[in-house]
Amino acid sequence: MYQAPRGTSDILPQQQVYFKHIADKASLAAYLYGYERIDTPVFEDFGLFSHSIGEETEIVVKEMYVFKDKGDKVLALRPEGTAPLCRAYIEHGMGSLPQPVRLYYFASAFRYERPQAGRYRQHHQFGFEAIGDADPALDVEIIDLAWQLYTSLGIDQLSLYLNSIGCKACRPGYVQALKDYYSPQLSQLCPDCQARWQRNPLRLLDCKQPACQEKAVQAPQSLDHLCVYCRGHFAEVKRHLEALGLPYTLNPRLVRGLDYYTNTVFEIQLRTSSLALGGGGRYDNLIEQLGGKPTPAVGFATGVERIIGYLKEHGIPVPPSPRPEVAIVYLGEAAKSDALKLASELRSEKVAVLLAAGGRSLKGQLRHAGSLGARYVLIVAEDEMRSGTVTLRDMSSHEQKSVPRGEIARFLSPKSQPG
Ligand code: HAM
Repeated sequence: MYQAPRGTSDILPQQQVYFKHIADKASLAAYLYGYERIDTPVFEDFGLFSHSIGEETEIVVKEMYVFKDKGDKVLALRPEGTAPLCRAYIEHGMGSLPQPVRLYYFASAFRYERPQAGRYRQHHQFGFEAIGDADPALDVEIIDLAWQLYTSLGIDQLSLYLNSIGCKACRPGYVQALKDYYSPQLSQLCPDCQARWQRNPLRLLDCKQPACQEKAVQAPQSLDHLCVYCRGHFAEVKRHLEALGLPYTLNPRLVRGLDYYTNTVFEIQLRTSSLALGGGGRYDNLIEQLGGKPTPAVGFATGVERIIGYLKEHGIPVPPSPRPEVAIVYLGEAAKSDALKLASELRSEKVAVLLAAGGRSLKGQLRHAGSLGARYVLIVAEDEMRSGTVTLRDMSSHEQKSVPRGEIARFLSPKSQPG
């Protein structure tokens, strides 16, 4: 028997209500902050991701779904949404629009990770990106948006972790300081970190191995190596956060798992878990790196499954999906076409109707209608239809009355007629 691939899930109707609820809140936040929706393809050139996320990152080296198409082009399922969005920004000449361009997306993302709670091989993200301006106020706008989105979903107990990892000018000096610090103790690091020292020294700081974490505590901090510009930028970010009353904790070991970041990086975490609900930061060099003009940008993405995990764990209810309150049953096969026709007529009047299809007896159909949660049942009988009436049964009071076919909608509760 086939099963959904490991680390992926079907989104069943009872899950859809969570997705819809989160989508509603995220699109409301997008509207309130002026972000417009964009969708990009599920797959892109592999090079787009390796050049932006970083050739040496875990995501590119170990986690990408890479394949050749029939024309021998090397493609990859998107592991994240920022690089595709920057590609689209360049490709569609968005640099000539008033800046910053504010965009958001809701997208599936694919990473070959070891599946566990909150970590899947296919997950979903809402992402928000403000492209074309280096103003620290935009960093804070993005963080505020993220914070307000979580709050609007009933998620409190949040921690905001913040760091600045500098820019092209000051990062190399910091990376050298890190390498110098780790160099005499390389043999005490895990094999992955020994490789990181060579290829991606910043990632030495967020290794999860206890021995490496111990070393990271004493490691040089990027905040002590920022150039004048980056120091000023970060001071403004903190000042605006304080003005908005957004509490943050500086985390000098926060470097994020993608190489495109410059200056501000942040993650929002539940106080009770070490998994980030969402994260982001500035990526002022990425668009230029991908062939566009130098264009500063900042953004954030949140995992949808991690939000759902929180809502379920804390018993936070989400609005149920509306179900038809009216079911149509029929007396005998001869009335079936009449029942179909009546259902169709009612739907054209915006009444949502369930047809009790199948070969059940009237009693069986009524029981079925009850189990579907129908408030009203319309009983269609051939002779009644000829006289232009049907029987309307209120399933809670068990009252029945004969109503003229053209006036059914009037007898139903307004809730039965959405929109
Ligand atoms: P990221 O931190 O790699 O950042 O992913 C963003 C969020 O997606 C994470 O905080 C987490 O909630 C969720 N997520 C990531 N991987 C998984 C997984 N395997 N299973 C379940 N959820 C996951 C980015 O992707 C950046 N593009 C964010 C960004 C936007 N930076 C600037 N703009």
